[in-house]
Amino acid sequence: MDNNSFPALGAGLGFREPFLSDLFLHRGQVDWLEIVTDHYLDAAPEKARELDLLAAHFPLIPHGLNLSLGSAEGLDEEYADKVAALVNRLRPPWWSEHIAWTRAGGVSIGHLTPLPWTREALDVLCRNIAAMQRRTDIPLILENISYIVALPGAEMTEAQFLSEVTERTGCGLLLDVTNLYANAVNHGGDPAAFLDALPLERVVQLHFVGGRWQDGVFVDSHSSPTPPEVWALMDEVLTRAPVKGVLLERDEDLPPFSELAAELERARSLGRQRGRWA
Ligand SMILES: [Fe+2]
Repeated sequence: MDNNSFPALGAGLGFREPFLSDLFLHRGQVDWLEIVTDHYLDAAPEKARELDLLAAHFPLIPHGLNLSLGSAEGLDEEYADKVAALVNRLRPPWWSEHIAWTRAGGVSIGHLTPLPWTREALDVLCRNIAAMQRRTDIPLILENISYIVALPGAEMTEAQFLSEVTERTGCGLLLDVTNLYANAVNHGGDPAAFLDALPLERVVQLHFVGGRWQDGVFVDSHSSPTPPEVWALMDEVLTRAPVKGVLLERDEDLPPFSELAAELERARSLGRQRGRWA
C-alpha cells in the first residue's frame, strides 16, 4: 500500500443522523464523511436512500465496528461478506476497522475490546485481515483503540504491534489521536515515543474529538470539543505523516453545527499549513 495513491480528502465529519440537514445547509464546510458501515448492512429503504443521498454529495469512507478482527475463532462469514459487499459497491479510496475484538464464542459483546500485544494475537489479526483482503481490493486501514485496562502478558508494545500488523498485511493506519492521548494519560505512556515507534509513512487518516475526565481517567466519550493536547498531537502527526484526511467523530452532547464546522476549519487549515492538502 502506497499513501501516494490515495486522494487528499481534507477535513471530514463522522456522519450522524442529526447532522443531515445542517450538512446540506453548510455543504462547503465539510470535505467528506465517514459512515458507520454497520448502519447500512441489511439497510431499511430509508437508510439505503440516505446512503445514496450522502454518496451523491460527499466522498464517503465506510468505518466498521463489528468485524472483530482480533477474534481467534475467525470472522463472522456472513457479516464479513456484507461489509465487503458494501465496500465494493461504494468503491471508496479506503475503508477502516479497529484493531480490537467485539465477539467471542459467537456472542457479540458490543464493545471494542483490546487485544493482548502478543505474537499469537498478531497471527490471528493478520489471518482475519487476509480474509477481508480476499473479499475486497479496496485498501483497509486499521484504527488504534483506547482501552481502560491493558491486557497482561504483552510480548511487545502497542506501537510495535501496530508496526508488525501493518508490515505483514500492507494495511495503512487510521491513527485516532484522541485514543493515543487517552492511552498515554491513562497508562502513563509518552505520545512522542509512541509516534517515534510507529511506521508514520503508513498513516492515512486521523480521528479526533474530545472526551471527558471521570475519576482521574480520560474517557474517549466523543462528547466535547477537541482539547489542546489533542490539537497539538494532531499537528505533530500532520507534520510528520502523509495524512490524507482528518475526521471529527462527535457522538454525544452535540453542539450547534457551527462549532463542529469551526473545529473542521481549524483541522483543515492545520493540514494545509503542513502541506497535506490545498
Ligand atoms: Fe476513532
